Amino acid sequence: MEQVSTSLSGRSHSRKSSAQINPMMVRPTLFVLLLSAVHLLSAQSVPKAASSDASAQDDNVSKPRKTVWSGVYTREQAQRGAEAYGDACSRCHREDLSGYSGLRGDNFLENWREDSLESLWRRVSKTMPVGAPGSLPEREYLDILAFILKANEFPAGTRELTAAEMPSIRFESRNGPEPAPDFALVQTVGCLERDSTGVWRVTHASEPRRTRNPDKPTPSEMESASTAVPGGSTFRFLDGSALKADVHAGERAVVRGFLIRKPNDDRLNTTSVESLGQSCK
Ligand code: HEC
Repeated sequence: MEQVSTSLSGRSHSRKSSAQINPMMVRPTLFVLLLSAVHLLSAQSVPKAASSDASAQDDNVSKPRKTVWSGVYTREQAQRGAEAYGDACSRCHREDLSGYSGLRGDNFLENWREDSLESLWRRVSKTMPVGAPGSLPEREYLDILAFILKANEFPAGTRELTAAEMPSIRFESRNGPEPAPDFALVQTVGCLERDSTGVWRVTHASEPRRTRNPDKPTPSEMESASTAVPGGSTFRFLDGSALKADVHAGERAVVRGFLIRKPNDDRLNTTSVESLGQSCK
């Protein structure tokens, strides 16, 4: 435990000693299981993953971790994708993927990391090509995404990428799981508190993870959020406009908003706050 809280707070989160984290909020066995999974994975393909433990705070604690480093597409698929990309995408994004916002490199990674591959998949298959969104067969979109993954130096594997598995594949950089970037739209789960000056905070908050939807989570998102592992972060709400009358201090809630990192004062510009109907006690 000591190691977990130290490395978490060491990375741009508000600093909290482990003594401040309520031991009741932590499930030790899950932590141990997850940490060993992270170590196993890191030994195989992600050299630095063991130094970071954001995944230990992931909502889907019971599932083995699969990432873009796990070999989620095949070489043949990426080769087919290169051709389809040439037909449908390269006139705007260029042969070398450097056009427009750029489909490879640091900016691209920063846009999509700490999220599931589902978000990038939707962006590609539902909004591209500009002018004819969603016009290609699904198989071609899959091939093209495989090609984009290859261009970003994620390794090929033995099984082709499929649409069904996108939500279970995490997009992360070579460094392994990291804190979500500043200004990203994120979701966290924690305890709502209101201080004497009327300022709201979410405390014991799970590691914020990226979301693309600022609005109220779907019922299934609420359900998976209800099992989120409590964490040691605190986020102050920039204003209370996303709070509705049925949300109360002392309740666990799913909070979405734009992340603003400040030393010892991480904030959320909240876009949705939904109570899980559970008391924090
Ligand atoms: C007619 C021009 C055009 C074509 C063709 C096109 N795109 Fe785009 N694409 C854009 C523009 C412009 C943007 C970024 C700006 C925006 O969306 O407002 C973009 C953004 C993207 C992004 C988001 C990048 C990021 O990091 O935010 C992805 C991914 C993408 N395109 C993939 C594709 C793929 C794959 C194809 C082929 C199936 C394709 N695009 C075809 C113009 C195009």
